[in-house]
Amino acid sequence: MSTFKSLNPTNLSDVVVETKLATADDIADAARRAKAAQKAWAKMPAPARGRVIANAGRLFENNKEALSKLVTREMGKVYREALGDVQEVIDTCDFFLGEGRRLYGQTVPSEMPNKNLFTFRMPVGTALIITAGNFPAAVPSWYIIPALLTGNSVVWKPSEFTPAVAEAMTAIFHAAGVPKDVLITVVAEGKETFEGMVKGLDEGTINKVGFTGSTEVGRLIGAKVGEYIQSACLELGGKNPMIIMPDADLELALDGALFAGFGTAGQRCTSLGTLWIHDSVYDKFLKMYADKVAGSKVGDPMEDVLFGPMIAEKYLATHEENLKMIQPHHTVHGSTGIGRITKDNPREGFVGDPEAGVFVHPTIVAGIKKEDALYNTETFGPLVTVGRFSTIEEAIELGNDHGFGLSAAIYTSDPKAVWTFREGISAGMLSINNSTSGAEAHLPFGGNGKSGNGSRQSGIWVLDVFTRWQSLNWDWSGKLQKAQMDNEEVPHNPDFKI
Ligand code: UN1
Repeated sequence: MSTFKSLNPTNLSDVVVETKLATADDIADAARRAKAAQKAWAKMPAPARGRVIANAGRLFENNKEALSKLVTREMGKVYREALGDVQEVIDTCDFFLGEGRRLYGQTVPSEMPNKNLFTFRMPVGTALIITAGNFPAAVPSWYIIPALLTGNSVVWKPSEFTPAVAEAMTAIFHAAGVPKDVLITVVAEGKETFEGMVKGLDEGTINKVGFTGSTEVGRLIGAKVGEYIQSACLELGGKNPMIIMPDADLELALDGALFAGFGTAGQRCTSLGTLWIHDSVYDKFLKMYADKVAGSKVGDPMEDVLFGPMIAEKYLATHEENLKMIQPHHTVHGSTGIGRITKDNPREGFVGDPEAGVFVHPTIVAGIKKEDALYNTETFGPLVTVGRFSTIEEAIELGNDHGFGLSAAIYTSDPKAVWTFREGISAGMLSINNSTSGAEAHLPFGGNGKSGNGSRQSGIWVLDVFTRWQSLNWDWSGKLQKAQMDNEEVPHNPDFKI
């Protein structure tokens, strides 16, 4: 039996929990149990399931601080952001508790007399939900809550880096009244998860897969699931552009670029990828940004800092690989060094002991060109690239051409620029004079191209992920009325002219 030690990235000597890692067989077994429990759960009236979600929301609210502290301890985001992570779970419960009393179908007029047409939302069955470590509470809840509300059962595979948060969340859902086998949490590594998923797909015990993570893994999952005539809900990477127009409020843009680039240590899928600055304000805004980042506090996430540690050493290793993509034509800003912060590679004003955890210098790489590897690599760390443009059309092209399409922002006071951007940019989520990150929990969340296959989470839109439409026609005329054939012609005069 292999186990995984989840470490506090602020202080690696603090073992948060040691968890048993599930095998592919364990996952297949969980899917069988969840599948067996699904029918009874779906039989429960939707408003009653809504009450369970209401209970969960109240419990998350009552446990908000304790759970947020655990989020900070286990994955390292600053406490204020951890509170936001948990608040997003509460917001999602708030939204879906009422959906239990809606879950509307439609009544549709028939082309025949004495015949009625209806639509119903059917649960998909059992969903396997695979989530990442950067939003250990909010993102899983975007799947789990609507999946449960619509009558599905769930096998949840959280990130192996955040098992303690997953365990606490699962316990809250169970305490709220979700039957044990209707939500089963299994912690596993990627390879076993994939094999377990294939077993479940083969056995018909996994009917939907939701995955938040890298484009590379999403591609494998999407392809495999497609063989079983299913479509996965894929929420993948981003290289989110932020465009600074000549007429932008630069102070406002500075706040946005700081939060978008370095909030959650740059480990949001909505984090700022490249800051595209118009030629006319390029030097000025780059200096403002570099100075602001250089002067910001980094360190202990329970203190008032811009960002804390990276999630784990594995994420740091990827960050260090990305730093190797810096070219001689680039200039580097934002700190006294790059890479891991140590006694020999210090960061001025660091809060706490950098060597105890996985702390990294914030890095701004300026002079990005379309040909650079950093142009189309999602860096998922405290690394922001900066480039220049001269027309809005050029900025839109630069913001699209890497093929990701998750989130994009523009800072401008020109409505024409806003609408040109809206129409031209291919991302699924746009911000005007706001950060690329920080989406509200009841708008559709998701991307296009390398960022996702068009499925959307959150709000009413996620209902289409976890339900299938069933249509019903009921003919009470007492005779066979053939659609498209037995319709009554309305007499009319096609040659009529006044
Ligand atoms: C993610 O990084 O996977 O929009 C989710 C945001 C947050 C969620 C990010 N509300 O930045």
